[in-house]
Amino acid sequence: MKHLLSAADLSLAEAEGILDLAEQMQQVQTRPVKKLPALRGRTIINMFFEDSTRTRSSFEIAGKWLSADTINVSAKGSSTSKGESLRDTMLTLDAMGVDAFVIRHSSSGAVAQAADWVKAHVINAGDGQHEHPTQALLDAYAMRRHFRQLGSDGFAGKRIAIVGDLLHSRVVRSNVLLQRTLGGEVVLVAPPTLLPTGVETWGCEVTDDFDAVLGQADIVMMLRVQRERMAGGFFPTPREYSEGYGLTLERLQRLKDGAAICHPGPMNRGVEISSEAADAANSLVLEQVAAGVAVRMSVLYHILGGSDEGVNA
Ligand code: CP
Repeated sequence: MKHLLSAADLSLAEAEGILDLAEQMQQVQTRPVKKLPALRGRTIINMFFEDSTRTRSSFEIAGKWLSADTINVSAKGSSTSKGESLRDTMLTLDAMGVDAFVIRHSSSGAVAQAADWVKAHVINAGDGQHEHPTQALLDAYAMRRHFRQLGSDGFAGKRIAIVGDLLHSRVVRSNVLLQRTLGGEVVLVAPPTLLPTGVETWGCEVTDDFDAVLGQADIVMMLRVQRERMAGGFFPTPREYSEGYGLTLERLQRLKDGAAICHPGPMNRGVEISSEAADAANSLVLEQVAAGVAVRMSVLYHILGGSDEGVNA
């Protein structure tokens, strides 16, 4: 695999291979010495042109635990703040002999564009409202573990409700694409104002009635209301949004037996998810965070491990 730009890039064998290796990588998390030699001598630059807590820190930890040299570059503090173009920035860093770039950018398509300019491998860490493939992989990892704990394997027959601000979400796009490969049945739930154009072509059931799907879902994945991307009035007030589309305490009590709650974070507690739901025994939120390191170790290993193909060296 040269790059990971979209969840659609992954075949079933590749996606399952990443999830399976992540199971082994997660064992490193519990060791006193969290270090494997797998990527010794490799250099990874994490380029985050948009804010991040989970993705940036987990990619950095993942690279370090695999013994790669990891360097962080952000817009503030780099020459992009002096007006240098993304292309010139990428060509400059690529010329230093970097092996891989992990890139987050606010423009949809910017990461794929960057991949065309450089010789190094590129991993999409979230581009605008487009995609966030490693988030979908870590979501799948956490869901798969949950299903296995309940004694079932695989995604076939599993109903995954993804609820909330679908319009601005790159997480939903990557999850829909990955579940198309893994076999889960995705149901999309949002008010009509927060549905993306063309959602009817995504091959998923779409509804504005959260209560109608609540009791049938094996996973309820709540999405953050992305107020920073909202210029207009997409809903009257946060309270009314929560009444229609929030996972409130009352809705939490109506989930199907064995259902689990996911949220990619960061969470708006009291808006799309109540504290009772976020912190519930069946919430996978912190499992998702933990999975982020293991899955990103696995992705880095799949892309960089044991092959010089396509690398600057
Ligand atoms: N889920 C996610 O991408 O979180 P961050 O923005 O904190 O990286």
